[in-house]
Amino acid sequence: MKPLIFPLVYGFLFTFSLMLLSTMERSFGAEPSGQKLFAANCVRCHGLNAKGSMPAAKSLKVDPVQLDLTRESVVEKSAKYLREKISDGHGKMPPQGPRLSPSQIQSLVRYIQSLQKAYVLKAQGDK
Ligand code: HEC
Repeated sequence: MKPLIFPLVYGFLFTFSLMLLSTMERSFGAEPSGQKLFAANCVRCHGLNAKGSMPAAKSLKVDPVQLDLTRESVVEKSAKYLREKISDGHGKMPPQGPRLSPSQIQSLVRYIQSLQKAYVLKAQGDK
């Protein structure tokens, strides 16, 4: 009976390390792909740091503040709200749902939230 325990332990360790690896990949992998998607689809209006693009605001005839995704009123919003706005569009923002998959939109939401977090931390540091 005793030798049976070894394959079990090794099997368990193997499964556990695979699980750990896939979690790591998810947490480190999501941001770069969100960043790429953001650069390809959103930067021309929302700017590199999601703080809004001045020329885009001018040509869209919107207040530049509306393009700033790191402002407080957007930081307060839920992931669900962000997903819906990205997918369905918002005012002068064209819907992105037809061009992006739900998982791409999810990566974008995570990326925007990471920019928001960085911005909030910086703003607190500046005080
Ligand atoms: C053609 C320009 C344009 C592009 C491209 C664009 N947006 Fe927007 N986006 C806007 C405008 C304009 C608004 C503000 C609309 C309003 O407030 O009436 C907006 C609003 C938003 C909001 C809601 C913010 C709020 O005020 O609640 C989110 C979230 C957002 N955009 C995310 C994205 C993401 C992510 C992408 C890329 C996939 C993207 N946008 C691409 C123009 C654009």
